[in-house]
Amino acid sequence: MATPPARTVLVTGCSSGIGLAVAVLLARDPRRRYLVLATMRDLSRRGALEAAAGATLGDTLQILPLDVTSDASVAECLAQVPGGRVDVVVNNAGVGLVGPLESASGPQVQRVFDTNVFGVLRLARALLPQMKGRRSGHIVVVSSVMGLQGVVFNDVYSASKFAVEGLCESLAVQLLQFNVFYLGGIFWGFFGLPLTCPPPQAIVDVINSPRPKFRTPTNPLYSPLLALRFADPRGDLGVRTFRRLLFDLGPVFSLSLGLLRCLTCRCCRRRVTPV
Ligand SMILES: NC(=O)c1ccc[n+]([C@@H]2O[C@H](COP(=O)([O-])OP(=O)(O)OC[C@H]3O[C@@H](n4cnc5c(N)ncnc54)[C@H](OP(=O)(O)O)[C@@H]3O)[C@@H](O)[C@H]2O)c1
Repeated sequence: MATPPARTVLVTGCSSGIGLAVAVLLARDPRRRYLVLATMRDLSRRGALEAAAGATLGDTLQILPLDVTSDASVAECLAQVPGGRVDVVVNNAGVGLVGPLESASGPQVQRVFDTNVFGVLRLARALLPQMKGRRSGHIVVVSSVMGLQGVVFNDVYSASKFAVEGLCESLAVQLLQFNVFYLGGIFWGFFGLPLTCPPPQAIVDVINSPRPKFRTPTNPLYSPLLALRFADPRGDLGVRTFRRLLFDLGPVFSLSLGLLRCLTCRCCRRRVTPV
């Protein structure tokens, strides 16, 4: 049987973290199903990716410059894509901002939105015409728990991820008509609690799935908190509960999280579950 052509996957923000890990996982696919365009805004930071990519570099993995905050950079990057075709885009590039809102400068706030929101928009607008034309494509967006639940002192970051969630939910409906999947919400990192799946693997699983779910929550312990949010449409229940948890019951909250971590960690499970 003839080998199907590799799908071209463009990943943003590959100089470190999740982007780097996803790019390498895909490039090392034993069935060579992907040509990975691992992009980063500053090529002088390519050392870690090159080291992790090993023999895949120049074979199933190519490194390209891309700053998602620049229209010109997006156009230049896409002009270098072999055949101009991108089957999958993984919007991973992101920046955070922690602290009281009053201490954040205008340019800092702008930068968060320009990267986390407009970066996704720029690539979507550039790639949707070809994906709709082919009636196939995957647009993966790395979101956050903070895209569904505001978290104290993460106001701007949370607002940016909420914006991305809204964008994804709206687009997903019409894109299904074109067999293009817009995939929001890869959530993790909630107070260090254990995950169902490491985020890079969760992203690869989404890309491999012909009909992926709209969201991939990687932290099941987050579901009860989300339920609290939707249980009261006026929003009071969630806001007041979080305030009490953080400011009135801080030590109890920490203790409960510690207990949850303990109960859900592997070593504990081994101890309490007979094999
Ligand atoms: N870590 C977590 O717990 C967590 C939880 C939920 C969601 N997320 C999301 O996961 C994604 C990846 O985060 P991470 O944890 O892997 O963080 P990370 O290691 O800091 O990676 C972020 C990447 O984004 C790149 N980037 C920043 N601005 C860019 C721009 N203008 N153009 C292109 N690339 C840019 C960074 O490049 P430089 O090296 O040039 O700065 C870096 O490669 C983000 O979207 C983040 O919001 C993370």
